[in-house]
Amino acid sequence: MTKPMVAFRNVDKTFGSYKALDAVSLDVMPGEVLCLIGASGSGKTTLLRSVNQLHPIDEGAIWLDGELLGKRQEGQHLHLLTDREIARQRLATGMVFQRFNLFPHMTALENITEGPVQVQRRRAAEVRDEAMALLERVGLSDKAGNFPSELSGGQQQRVAIARALAMKPKLMLFDEPTSALDPELVGEVLSVMKGLASSGMTMMVVTHELGFAREVADTVVYMDAGRIVEYGPPDQVLSHPREERTKAFISKVIA
Ligand SMILES: Nc1ncnc2c1ncn2[C@@H]1O[C@H](COP(=O)(O)OP(=O)(O)OP(=O)(O)O)[C@@H](O)[C@H]1O
Ligand SMILES: [Mg+2]
Repeated sequence: MTKPMVAFRNVDKTFGSYKALDAVSLDVMPGEVLCLIGASGSGKTTLLRSVNQLHPIDEGAIWLDGELLGKRQEGQHLHLLTDREIARQRLATGMVFQRFNLFPHMTALENITEGPVQVQRRRAAEVRDEAMALLERVGLSDKAGNFPSELSGGQQQRVAIARALAMKPKLMLFDEPTSALDPELVGEVLSVMKGLASSGMTMMVVTHELGFAREVADTVVYMDAGRIVEYGPPDQVLSHPREERTKAFISKVIA
């Protein structure tokens, strides 16, 4: 049996008295594209940030490629990992945000080579060749020497995707990667993501682009108030949802 790339078991996350994640259990298999949909505040970003350990979870457990995140089991006891160990685990995941967060003082190429050279201590020449190949993959070979301020939003987001891929992650997380873009720039970013999906990358994607979800996702998850309310193939969740809440949400997004 194939083991999941990511496994969530009964994950809770509370902010003050508000439960942002409420008993979330979910498996994402290797090569699977999972799209997360749901209203504002339903916990989508919180779920992605838990995988990347940008905040600790309160209850439950998450495994990435079989490795327990944030903790180590010794006999009956769980020990919290050190910041250094958490940083190592974080490298297995690439994250792309709504805002591209490129380094403004570095060119597109330098943005991509920075992590592999400075963090992974890899050889600059080899990293540079890989970065050029990544730029080609996202359709930006001719922009290697441009600074972020010289690129469109869609181009910046494609550099951000290449930058995440340069670290050779096992899993890619996308948090509304196209929602800050002008409508005419959305397609070029979605098409890079589509290419990545067909190359076999495991992806968790928060998106309101239901057309993308329908075409590319293996699984769509609808979240409400920190819980997974609906889970299934796109056709089932988007066209034949079981829950009234899902129906209401989908008709609002399409409208
Ligand atoms: N750092 C934080 N401190 C306090 N509350 C938080 C924090 N992060 C998230 N929350 C709360 O947790 C809930 C879930 O937030 P989350 O950002 O995961 O929602 P979301 O589904 O991503 O929404 P959106 O579609 O608006 O991005 C919200 O009620 C939010 O206010
Ligand atoms: Mg969010």
